[in-house]
Amino acid sequence: MLSWDEFDKEDAAEPAKGANAGHASEAAMDKLDSAGGAAALEARAANASDSPAVARAKAALNKLDVAEGLAELEGSAARVAVDEKRMINCRADLNQLVPFKYDWAWQKYLDGCANHWMPQEVNMTADIAVWRNPEGLTDDERRIVMRNLGFFSTADSLVANNLALAVYRLITNPECRQYILRQAFEEAIHTHAYQYCIESLGMDEGEIFNMYHEIPSVAKKAAWGLKYTRAISDPEFNTGTVETDKELLRNLIAYYCVLEGIFFYCGFTQILSMGRRNKMTGVAEQFQYILRDESMHLNFGIDVINQIKIENPHLWDAELKEEASQMILQGTQLEIEYARDTMPRGVLGMNAAMMEDYLKFIANRRLSQIGLKEEYPGTTNPFPWMSEIMDLKKEKNFFETRVIEYQTGGALSWD
Ligand SMILES: [Fe+2]
Ligand SMILES: [Fe+2]
Repeated sequence: MLSWDEFDKEDAAEPAKGANAGHASEAAMDKLDSAGGAAALEARAANASDSPAVARAKAALNKLDVAEGLAELEGSAARVAVDEKRMINCRADLNQLVPFKYDWAWQKYLDGCANHWMPQEVNMTADIAVWRNPEGLTDDERRIVMRNLGFFSTADSLVANNLALAVYRLITNPECRQYILRQAFEEAIHTHAYQYCIESLGMDEGEIFNMYHEIPSVAKKAAWGLKYTRAISDPEFNTGTVETDKELLRNLIAYYCVLEGIFFYCGFTQILSMGRRNKMTGVAEQFQYILRDESMHLNFGIDVINQIKIENPHLWDAELKEEASQMILQGTQLEIEYARDTMPRGVLGMNAAMMEDYLKFIANRRLSQIGLKEEYPGTTNPFPWMSEIMDLKKEKNFFETRVIEYQTGGALSWD
């Protein structure tokens, strides 16, 4: 093992290598030895003016084992070539962001940052007046607002937990991890947005945040998603075998294709339809920004899933294809049940039957996006305006509210 004491010796001993340290410890040793090692030691020498705390800090650094620290880094620390990068089970150093292999992942990270927004920017005044006015909304419209805030306030937190506690560790590519970090922050913003709506409208927070325990149509969707997190969020879980690699793929399909790709769509459509009718425009604007973020999360997930399939074709066998198709169909069914529960009657120019058609149309898209056969032939989209909203640029926001451009407006001033 290396210690700083050894740097004092003219003929430094051959550096010890940890099992995986390889080039890392050697390179670090050479660099420290030749460039500034002596100067650093001089700066660290005990000094009479040092307080006891400063003296302890210097002493602790004198015991720092550089080789041990570098050996703990993921992958070997040699310079990375693009060909060595892989979506899962990669052995190259994960702390070297470039050279990029998946330019699309980096581009999505940049696009996510360019679309940054915060819930407090949205004016909720009109919503508060409508919500407080007994004549402001019908009972059916109130049910839609409550149910959706109930479902989404939990769902985004489940997605964030799955990303941070499971997926991030298992996706072994730095540019994808960079996007996953951005996505995780966006999920925090979404949960913040729901909380902001609930608080602004003066709703019973306990009732809303507990719907995933108490309302069956909400609970079933949450429980379905959680089932797919259980195995891979175990800290002992690792990919590297056919079975565990498949388990990760199942999780990605559950979360990206079903949770973010199907379970959000009934609620988004209902709330945005409300905004189009000039009701609850603040809540609708929040949901509009969230939907734009979510469509990028979905596209990222689809690209990751397809890339894993390309790099590991043996995983995508008949059994997993059948399982993936079943997962998407189960998710569609649960979302149809949610549509019926949230819309017992026609409301806002739509009804549960139209939503069922829309969800089947969405399910066909999800199936074909990961290379599976469409299961609802001939279905058409009854809500074409939804796709327009998803593609909307912020400066062309149809609610025509204030535009904040974080790309140019966020510079710090040193005055
Ligand atoms: Fe989200
Ligand atoms: Fe998301």
